[in-house]
Amino acid sequence: MTNTILIVGAERGLGLGLAEQFLARGWSVVGTARVGADTSALRALGADDPARLSLAMIDVTERDGIASLLNELGDRRFDVIYFNAGIFGPVHQSVTEATDAEFAQVMLTNTFGPIRLAHRLMDWLALDGTYCFMSSHRGSTAMNLEGGLELYRASKVALNMLARGLWATNRDRGSHGLTVLSIHPGWVRTAMGTLDGTVEAEMELEPSVCGVADVVERHRGSGENLYRDWEDRPLDW
Ligand SMILES: NC(=O)c1ccc[n+]([C@@H]2O[C@H](COP(=O)([O-])OP(=O)(O)OC[C@H]3O[C@@H](n4cnc5c(N)ncnc54)[C@H](OP(=O)(O)O)[C@@H]3O)[C@@H](O)[C@H]2O)c1
Repeated sequence: MTNTILIVGAERGLGLGLAEQFLARGWSVVGTARVGADTSALRALGADDPARLSLAMIDVTERDGIASLLNELGDRRFDVIYFNAGIFGPVHQSVTEATDAEFAQVMLTNTFGPIRLAHRLMDWLALDGTYCFMSSHRGSTAMNLEGGLELYRASKVALNMLARGLWATNRDRGSHGLTVLSIHPGWVRTAMGTLDGTVEAEMELEPSVCGVADVVERHRGSGENLYRDWEDRPLDW
Protein backbone atom coordinates (compact mmCIF):
# COMPACT_ATOMS: atom_id res chain seq x y z
CA MET A 1 0.00 0.00 0.00
CA THR A 2 1.17 3.54 -0.72
CA ASN A 3 2.65 5.38 2.25
CA THR A 4 1.05 8.70 3.06
CA ILE A 5 2.48 11.88 4.55
CA LEU A 6 0.94 15.19 5.56
CA ILE A 7 3.48 18.02 5.45
CA VAL A 8 2.48 21.19 7.29
CA GLY A 9 4.10 24.15 5.54
CA ALA A 10 4.94 22.61 2.16
CA GLU A 11 4.75 25.31 -0.49
CA ARG A 12 8.36 26.57 -0.26
CA GLY A 13 11.70 25.91 1.42
CA LEU A 14 12.32 22.64 3.24
CA GLY A 15 8.64 21.68 3.19
CA LEU A 16 8.52 21.90 -0.60
CA GLY A 17 11.75 19.92 -0.82
CA LEU A 18 10.31 17.25 1.46
CA ALA A 19 7.13 17.04 -0.62
CA GLU A 20 9.25 16.48 -3.74
CA GLN A 21 11.43 13.94 -1.95
CA PHE A 22 8.55 11.84 -0.62
CA LEU A 23 6.73 11.93 -3.97
CA ALA A 24 9.92 10.66 -5.64
CA ARG A 25 9.98 7.82 -3.10
CA GLY A 26 6.46 6.77 -4.10
CA TRP A 27 4.57 8.28 -1.17
CA SER A 28 1.22 10.07 -1.37
CA VAL A 29 1.62 13.63 -0.13
CA VAL A 30 -0.78 16.19 1.25
CA GLY A 31 1.01 19.52 1.56
CA THR A 32 -0.40 22.50 3.40
CA ALA A 33 -0.05 26.20 2.75
CA ARG A 34 -1.53 29.35 4.16
CA VAL A 35 -4.39 31.08 2.36
CA GLY A 36 -2.89 33.52 -0.14
CA ALA A 37 0.46 31.73 -0.45
CA ASP A 38 1.89 30.98 -3.90
CA THR A 39 1.30 27.24 -4.22
CA SER A 40 2.38 26.92 -7.87
CA ALA A 41 5.69 25.15 -7.10
CA LEU A 42 3.92 22.65 -4.84
CA ARG A 43 1.16 22.01 -7.38
CA ALA A 44 3.75 21.51 -10.13
CA LEU A 45 5.18 18.56 -8.19
CA GLY A 46 1.96 16.66 -8.87
CA ALA A 47 2.07 17.13 -12.63
CA ASP A 48 3.16 13.56 -13.42
CA ASP A 49 0.92 11.78 -10.94
CA PRO A 50 -1.82 14.12 -9.67
CA ALA A 51 -3.47 11.37 -7.62
CA ARG A 52 -0.49 11.31 -5.22
CA LEU A 53 -0.45 15.02 -4.36
CA SER A 54 -3.09 17.22 -2.83
CA LEU A 55 -3.16 20.51 -0.98
CA ALA A 56 -4.86 21.67 2.19
CA MET A 57 -4.89 25.00 4.00
CA ILE A 58 -3.77 25.86 7.52
CA ASP A 59 -2.08 28.69 9.35
CA VAL A 60 -0.67 27.07 12.47
CA THR A 61 -1.21 30.23 14.50
CA GLU A 62 -4.95 30.16 13.90
CA ARG A 63 -6.91 27.89 16.19
CA ASP A 64 -10.10 28.54 14.25
CA GLY A 65 -8.64 27.11 11.05
CA ILE A 66 -8.09 23.64 12.51
CA ALA A 67 -11.68 22.42 12.18
CA SER A 68 -11.75 23.27 8.49
CA LEU A 69 -8.40 21.48 7.91
CA LEU A 70 -9.76 18.38 9.64
CA ASN A 71 -12.83 18.62 7.47
CA GLU A 72 -10.67 18.92 4.33
CA LEU A 73 -8.69 15.84 5.34
CA GLY A 74 -11.90 13.86 5.79
CA ASP A 75 -11.31 10.16 6.31
CA ARG A 76 -7.66 10.22 5.17
CA ARG A 77 -5.16 8.65 7.55
CA PHE A 78 -1.43 9.37 7.45
CA ASP A 79 1.58 7.19 8.17
CA VAL A 80 3.62 10.32 8.87
CA ILE A 81 2.63 13.86 9.77
CA TYR A 82 5.52 16.30 9.43
CA PHE A 83 5.25 19.66 11.18
CA ASN A 84 7.67 21.79 9.20
CA ALA A 85 6.20 25.32 9.30
CA GLY A 86 8.27 27.78 11.26
CA ILE A 87 9.75 31.27 11.42
CA PHE A 88 13.07 32.68 12.56
CA GLY A 89 11.56 35.69 14.30
CA PRO A 90 13.10 39.15 14.42
CA VAL A 91 16.68 39.38 13.17
CA HIS A 92 17.91 40.86 16.48
CA GLN A 93 16.90 37.59 18.26
CA SER A 94 17.48 39.23 21.62
CA VAL A 95 15.32 38.85 24.73
CA THR A 96 16.34 42.30 25.85
CA GLU A 97 15.18 43.89 22.59
CA ALA A 98 12.14 41.73 21.87
CA THR A 99 8.65 43.07 22.27
CA ASP A 100 5.99 40.90 23.87
CA ALA A 101 4.43 40.50 20.44
CA GLU A 102 7.70 39.36 18.82
CA PHE A 103 8.32 36.70 21.44
CA ALA A 104 4.70 35.57 21.38
CA GLN A 105 4.73 35.25 17.59
CA VAL A 106 7.82 33.02 17.53
CA MET A 107 6.47 30.78 20.27
CA LEU A 108 3.00 30.60 18.75
CA THR A 109 4.31 29.73 15.28
CA ASN A 110 7.17 27.37 16.16
CA THR A 111 5.90 25.75 19.35
CA PHE A 112 2.32 26.11 20.45
CA GLY A 113 0.77 26.14 16.96
CA PRO A 114 2.35 22.88 15.73
CA ILE A 115 1.86 21.04 19.03
CA ARG A 116 -1.76 22.14 19.34
CA LEU A 117 -2.31 20.94 15.78
CA ALA A 118 -0.57 17.64 16.53
CA HIS A 119 -2.98 17.00 19.41
CA ARG A 120 -5.95 17.70 17.15
CA LEU A 121 -4.58 15.55 14.30
CA MET A 122 -4.08 12.45 16.41
CA ASP A 123 -7.13 10.71 14.91
CA TRP A 124 -5.78 11.39 11.41
CA LEU A 125 -2.50 9.65 12.20
CA ALA A 126 -2.39 5.89 11.55
CA LEU A 127 -2.23 3.82 14.74
CA ASP A 128 1.44 3.01 14.24
CA GLY A 129 2.05 6.41 12.70
CA THR A 130 4.85 8.89 13.25
CA TYR A 131 4.91 12.56 14.13
CA CYS A 132 7.93 14.52 12.90
CA PHE A 133 8.75 18.01 14.05
CA MET A 134 11.19 20.27 12.22
CA SER A 135 13.44 21.10 15.10
CA SER A 136 16.94 22.56 14.91
CA HIS A 137 20.25 21.99 16.63
CA ARG A 138 19.41 25.41 18.12
CA GLY A 139 16.78 23.55 20.14
CA SER A 140 19.47 21.71 22.08
CA THR A 141 20.16 22.97 25.61
CA ALA A 142 23.33 20.88 25.82
CA MET A 143 24.79 22.24 22.58
CA ASN A 144 24.21 25.90 23.39
CA LEU A 145 27.72 26.94 24.37
CA GLU A 146 27.81 30.24 22.50
CA GLY A 147 24.48 31.92 23.38
CA GLY A 148 22.63 34.18 20.97
CA LEU A 149 19.59 33.38 18.79
CA GLU A 150 17.59 33.51 22.00
CA LEU A 151 14.05 33.73 20.62
CA TYR A 152 14.50 31.01 18.02
CA ARG A 153 16.30 28.70 20.45
CA ALA A 154 13.57 29.15 23.06
CA SER A 155 10.90 28.16 20.55
CA LYS A 156 12.71 25.03 19.36
CA VAL A 157 13.73 23.79 22.81
CA ALA A 158 10.11 24.18 23.89
CA LEU A 159 9.00 22.38 20.74
CA ASN A 160 11.31 19.48 21.59
CA MET A 161 9.89 19.32 25.11
CA LEU A 162 6.25 19.40 24.08
CA ALA A 163 6.93 16.82 21.36
CA ARG A 164 8.50 14.67 24.07
CA GLY A 165 5.34 15.09 26.13
CA LEU A 166 3.21 13.90 23.21
CA TRP A 167 5.37 10.81 22.95
CA ALA A 168 5.36 10.15 26.70
CA THR A 169 1.59 10.34 27.00
CA ASN A 170 0.95 8.09 23.99
CA ARG A 171 3.26 5.19 24.71
CA ASP A 172 0.38 2.71 24.69
CA ARG A 173 -0.81 3.77 21.22
CA GLY A 174 -0.79 1.12 18.50
CA SER A 175 1.60 -1.79 18.80
CA HIS A 176 4.79 0.19 19.64
CA GLY A 177 3.53 3.49 21.00
CA LEU A 178 3.58 6.82 19.19
CA THR A 179 6.81 7.58 17.32
CA VAL A 180 7.97 11.19 17.61
CA LEU A 181 11.02 12.42 15.71
CA SER A 182 12.56 15.85 16.27
CA ILE A 183 14.81 16.47 13.30
CA HIS A 184 17.51 19.06 12.57
CA PRO A 185 17.73 19.49 8.78
CA GLY A 186 21.16 21.16 8.73
CA TRP A 187 21.81 24.81 7.93
CA VAL A 188 20.08 24.92 4.59
CA ARG A 189 19.86 27.45 1.79
CA THR A 190 16.21 28.58 2.08
CA ALA A 191 14.65 31.97 2.77
CA MET A 192 15.08 31.32 6.49
CA GLY A 193 18.49 29.66 6.24
CA THR A 194 19.92 32.66 4.34
CA LEU A 195 17.96 35.26 6.31
CA ASP A 196 16.29 36.23 3.05
CA GLY A 197 19.49 36.12 1.05
CA THR A 198 21.68 38.13 3.41
CA VAL A 199 23.90 35.29 4.69
CA GLU A 200 25.34 32.07 3.24
CA ALA A 201 23.94 28.75 4.44
CA GLU A 202 26.02 25.59 4.81
CA MET A 203 24.16 23.24 2.53
CA GLU A 204 21.79 22.96 -0.40
CA LEU A 205 18.19 21.85 -0.08
CA GLU A 206 18.45 18.49 -1.85
CA PRO A 207 20.96 16.69 0.43
CA SER A 208 19.10 17.99 3.47
CA VAL A 209 15.65 16.75 2.48
CA CYS A 210 17.09 13.49 1.16
CA GLY A 211 18.78 12.88 4.52
CA VAL A 212 15.69 13.92 6.48
CA ALA A 213 13.51 11.55 4.44
CA ASP A 214 16.00 8.74 5.10
CA VAL A 215 15.76 9.43 8.85
CA VAL A 216 11.96 9.35 8.68
CA GLU A 217 11.88 6.11 6.70
CA ARG A 218 14.44 4.47 9.01
CA HIS A 219 12.77 5.29 12.33
CA ARG A 220 9.07 5.60 11.55
CA GLY A 221 6.87 3.28 13.56
CA SER A 222 9.68 2.45 16.01
CA GLY A 223 7.81 3.85 18.99
CA GLU A 224 10.82 6.01 19.90
CA ASN A 225 11.28 9.70 20.58
CA LEU A 226 14.51 10.65 18.83
CA TYR A 227 16.38 13.91 18.28
CA ARG A 228 18.46 13.44 15.14
CA ASP A 229 20.08 15.48 12.41
CA TRP A 230 19.71 14.92 8.65
CA GLU A 231 22.51 12.36 8.74
CA ASP A 232 20.78 10.47 11.54
CA ARG A 233 23.35 11.58 14.10
CA PRO A 234 21.85 11.74 17.62
CA LEU A 235 21.76 15.24 19.10
CA ASP A 236 22.10 15.95 22.81
CA TRP A 237 18.88 17.32 24.22
N1 LIG B 1 16.76 26.52 6.76
C1 LIG B 1 17.48 26.13 7.80
O1 LIG B 1 18.72 26.25 7.82
C2 LIG B 1 16.80 25.51 8.99
C3 LIG B 1 17.62 24.97 10.00
C4 LIG B 1 17.01 24.36 11.11
C5 LIG B 1 15.64 24.28 11.17
N2 LIG B 1 14.86 24.83 10.18
C6 LIG B 1 13.41 24.71 10.33
O2 LIG B 1 12.86 24.18 9.14
C7 LIG B 1 11.51 24.64 8.97
C8 LIG B 1 11.34 25.19 7.55
O3 LIG B 1 12.26 26.25 7.39
P1 LIG B 1 12.72 26.78 5.96
O4 LIG B 1 14.17 27.00 6.05
O5 LIG B 1 12.16 25.96 4.88
O6 LIG B 1 12.01 28.23 6.00
P2 LIG B 1 11.20 29.05 4.91
O7 LIG B 1 11.78 28.84 3.55
O8 LIG B 1 11.12 30.42 5.47
O9 LIG B 1 9.74 28.34 4.92
C9 LIG B 1 8.96 28.41 6.06
C10 LIG B 1 7.67 27.64 5.82
O10 LIG B 1 6.88 27.73 7.01
C11 LIG B 1 5.60 28.25 6.64
N3 LIG B 1 4.99 29.01 7.71
C12 LIG B 1 5.51 30.07 8.39
N4 LIG B 1 4.61 30.52 9.28
C13 LIG B 1 3.51 29.73 9.16
C14 LIG B 1 2.25 29.69 9.79
N5 LIG B 1 1.91 30.57 10.74
N6 LIG B 1 1.37 28.74 9.43
C15 LIG B 1 1.68 27.84 8.47
N7 LIG B 1 2.84 27.85 7.80
C16 LIG B 1 3.75 28.78 8.15
C17 LIG B 1 5.89 29.13 5.44
O11 LIG B 1 4.68 29.43 4.77
P3 LIG B 1 4.46 30.90 4.09
O12 LIG B 1 5.04 30.80 2.70
O13 LIG B 1 2.97 31.07 4.11
O14 LIG B 1 5.17 31.90 4.93
C18 LIG B 1 6.84 28.22 4.68
O15 LIG B 1 6.14 27.20 4.03
C19 LIG B 1 11.27 25.67 10.06
O16 LIG B 1 10.58 25.07 11.14
C20 LIG B 1 12.68 26.04 10.51
O17 LIG B 1 12.73 26.50 11.84
C21 LIG B 1 15.41 25.44 9.10
